[in-house]
Amino acid sequence: MGSIRDDFPLLAARPDLAFLDSAASSQKPRAVLEAMESFQETQYANVHRGAYRLSQVATMAYEGARKKVADFIGARDANELCFVRGTTTGLNVLAHGLAPRYADKTVLLTEIEHHANFIPWQQWAKRVGATVRYVPFTQGHRMDMAAFDEMLDDDVAVVSLTGMSNVLGTIPPVAEVAAKAKSVGALTVVDGAQMVPHMPVDVEALGIDAIAFGAHKMLGPTGIGAMWARAELLDEMEPFETGGEMIVDVTFEGATWSAAPAKFEAGTPPIVEAVGFGAAVDYLQGLGMEWVAEHDRELTAHALDRLLDEVPGITIQGPLDMADRGGVISFTLDGIHAHDLATILDEHGVAVRAGHHCAKPLMSCLGVAATARASFYVYNTEADIDPLVKGLLSAIDLFG
Ligand code: ALA
Repeated sequence: MGSIRDDFPLLAARPDLAFLDSAASSQKPRAVLEAMESFQETQYANVHRGAYRLSQVATMAYEGARKKVADFIGARDANELCFVRGTTTGLNVLAHGLAPRYADKTVLLTEIEHHANFIPWQQWAKRVGATVRYVPFTQGHRMDMAAFDEMLDDDVAVVSLTGMSNVLGTIPPVAEVAAKAKSVGALTVVDGAQMVPHMPVDVEALGIDAIAFGAHKMLGPTGIGAMWARAELLDEMEPFETGGEMIVDVTFEGATWSAAPAKFEAGTPPIVEAVGFGAAVDYLQGLGMEWVAEHDRELTAHALDRLLDEVPGITIQGPLDMADRGGVISFTLDGIHAHDLATILDEHGVAVRAGHHCAKPLMSCLGVAATARASFYVYNTEADIDPLVKGLLSAIDLFG
């Protein structure tokens, strides 16, 4: 039997490459590439528009992909899942659409959010007179639940938090947060960019109200993601984008909106990408999300052990133990800039991201300008950790 890596043409062609940057974007398996190509070669047309058969076939493929992605996160109804450009767009749509809910009230975020889960809320909060407050993290890089309990009062209308930090790897207790938020009448929104690709997610079991995630971090193409929200929220939210295919009627005076998901899918959607997204979900289901999460945990535990044992002067910016932690390891090395580390690692065939990871407020809390970050996915193995350690040791040699 071949390895999982063999399913990924780019990785199969590059045995020398330790690709440790899946938190930024993952590679695509042949099944996804072929599904998109075959759809374009045999079934492609615009969707929801044509009376002709080819358009109906394309519409079935597009709506079939929606059902797959909706089922993947345990949504009750596929119509609660809207295709959007990616996590960023999904969070913008939610911050905009829920603004009447939090006007003159409070939005709670956490200090470790990605900019995509900071800025949309900050911007809309300014416009509707809301206050944004930030739940701190503990020394151990975990969400400070005592502080959360203190900050959560009747004035809080929305809690929006990451399902897994793209810098620290921390997995906050989302279900507990959602239950507590609900007890004061607040909604819980989740930035699922790093969460949905890496662990089983059931939106109903979590008790959350909305989540956004992108396909390209879960083996699918760029340019498409999903925003799920409870039907009643989708009904009340104003669309972020308006245009073709999202209306019931348009007159010279105004327009009325279709029901979700069409309401949030103005214009021609990313049809080919939706087919690829569906194929990515099929591939992940084939592996099993419990297996995916366990694989991440094993690899991360192994990498943490080796980095801490073998690399002098390394600081891990994130939890050191594996409880509620995913496959993202950010680190700094005494006296060596993160960008230099990434460049030297590249010479050893190791691809990692370096920088602020679109989380500048978190960087300021950590007291660093940048970190280097290794992140793992289904195709990585312990063999990828060898060049990582070797590359870091050679950086230390080089910089003395
Ligand atoms: N949000 C992506 C990352 O963390 C791009 O790298």
